[in-house]
Amino acid sequence: MASARPWWKDAVVYQIYPASFKDSNGDGLGDIPGVLSKMDYLKGLGIDIIWISPMFESPQVDMGYDISNYEEVHAPYGTVKDMEDLIAACHSRGMRLILDLVINHTSDQHAWFQESKSSRDNPKRDWYIWKPPRYAEDGARLPPTNWRSYFSGGTWEYDEHTQEYYLHLFAKEQPDLNWENEETRKAIYDSAMRFWLDKGVDGFRVDCVNMYSKVVDFQDAPVVDKTFYEQPASEFYANGPRMHEFLREMNEQVLSRYDAVTVGELPHTPDPRKVLQYVGLGDRQLSMVFQFDIVAIGQNVAQKYNFEPWTLPVLKEIVAKWQQFIEGTDGWTTAFCENHDQGRSVSRYASDAPEHRVASAKMLAMMMCALTGTLFVFQGQEIGMINLPKSWPIDELKDIEALGYYKSMAAATNNDKETMATVMRNLQILGRDNARLPMQWDSTAHAGFTDSKDGPWMRVHDLYPDINVTKQLQDPGSTYSFWKAMIQLRKEHKDMLVFGAFEIFEPDGEKTFVFAKTHRNNKAVVALNFTSDDQRVTLPPFDGLALRVGTYPDAADVEKAAAPGNMRTLRPWEGRLYMA
Ligand code: NOJ
Repeated sequence: MASARPWWKDAVVYQIYPASFKDSNGDGLGDIPGVLSKMDYLKGLGIDIIWISPMFESPQVDMGYDISNYEEVHAPYGTVKDMEDLIAACHSRGMRLILDLVINHTSDQHAWFQESKSSRDNPKRDWYIWKPPRYAEDGARLPPTNWRSYFSGGTWEYDEHTQEYYLHLFAKEQPDLNWENEETRKAIYDSAMRFWLDKGVDGFRVDCVNMYSKVVDFQDAPVVDKTFYEQPASEFYANGPRMHEFLREMNEQVLSRYDAVTVGELPHTPDPRKVLQYVGLGDRQLSMVFQFDIVAIGQNVAQKYNFEPWTLPVLKEIVAKWQQFIEGTDGWTTAFCENHDQGRSVSRYASDAPEHRVASAKMLAMMMCALTGTLFVFQGQEIGMINLPKSWPIDELKDIEALGYYKSMAAATNNDKETMATVMRNLQILGRDNARLPMQWDSTAHAGFTDSKDGPWMRVHDLYPDINVTKQLQDPGSTYSFWKAMIQLRKEHKDMLVFGAFEIFEPDGEKTFVFAKTHRNNKAVVALNFTSDDQRVTLPPFDGLALRVGTYPDAADVEKAAAPGNMRTLRPWEGRLYMA
């Protein structure tokens, strides 16, 4: 049980991806005034905190996760003044705003890196991670290690001018900052954090939060994927030796002075004991984290996008694990299953077939809204947006990671037709672009996202006339209306739904997911059907269980007609929530 209830624990957070949310000026790209125009929509849904993905000045090699100036806004998105207006617009509605804090790396266009690479004796040389080459026996120049970067290829880029390599865990345009250098850390705190905290932002989603401290003897990673020279190497840069020291310092010197909330992105950390080391309230590092198990379902360990089929017990075990790991501690957890780096949840965890997608979206909404932890909703999740159509060719994809995977697989297999068809299928399920399609506001041209004559920066989903906000706002039976009602219910019963103890039933069942949430004598039971057929479920034998919400409109009538006892039949992708 959590020992305290700071303001952010029972909040519902809504993530905005600025490029794809709403274009206000007809250039085909979303912007901050576009966000401002939708504030009442977000308030109406029941949102407490807005998290906006990077809107800082950036060459946009990685959609803004490559920042060239922390203290400026990417001009096509707006200005610092627009951000001040957004902070005010949130606060005047009783909402809060958190920004993305991307401080493992900067853009190679950041003034710090420009100085760092200008000469070996520049005072900022040591602000990034530079190493001399290695040489093979035949004299060929080799990078300092064989580490694989996230966007395919290696993590080292050679600089002809100074004849050394610099480290980049992501694109070569995203050099890693050297956190070993105290002066660099202080500059990061000032520029990326205090600048915005002083303007009133309420906290940060912290990018790659466990990657700042590297194992600094820079060894080769073991070979696990013989197709490539570069190998997965997270053990050398994730959860490194000084990680907790750095986070305590950041908290002590900056965050705690503003009562700022943080949610850290925590990949490569499956061990709950390690996660707890980041999120204990008393230790003052991070408020909470996004642990990656749920979004890694179906990903291959060596090659993320090589999709692997999975079964429901895997998902159930993961949900249970990250619900229960905080019990009896002062740690806190998050409930999320979508963000800008993932395929849409309806397509990944349920069914986006035309006859099942609405039921699927509501069933997943019920699950998410009943889970303990701070709840995160990604833009479009509230209307049940789905993955991009299977028919779209590679030219429609924009993401640097997807294109890197595509190119490296094409090169490794000599463009083998069958392999490349599988690659496209994998990207259609797992690719980051799935989440980045423009928000579907209405059924007018370009889904009402933009009125640009040239259309949006990224193609709008073909199904926008069916799946859009305007249509759903008017329909009490829509996915949007269901999310709104579930968020309200979550708030009314927060002791159980936000803070309650989690219990799972029949963890091995492959078709249905039944769990309970308990606070003192109060119980909620959630029964979910994860198949396209009718399924029988057994409700736990709690006295006085009564149906509170169903995802099917006639759930109350069906419940009344049910035979006495604990057995129920759930229809395809149906969810029911009972309370006692
Ligand atoms: C995680 C972000 O969510 C992702 O979009 C980005 O590419 C990497 N970190 C690098 O910043």
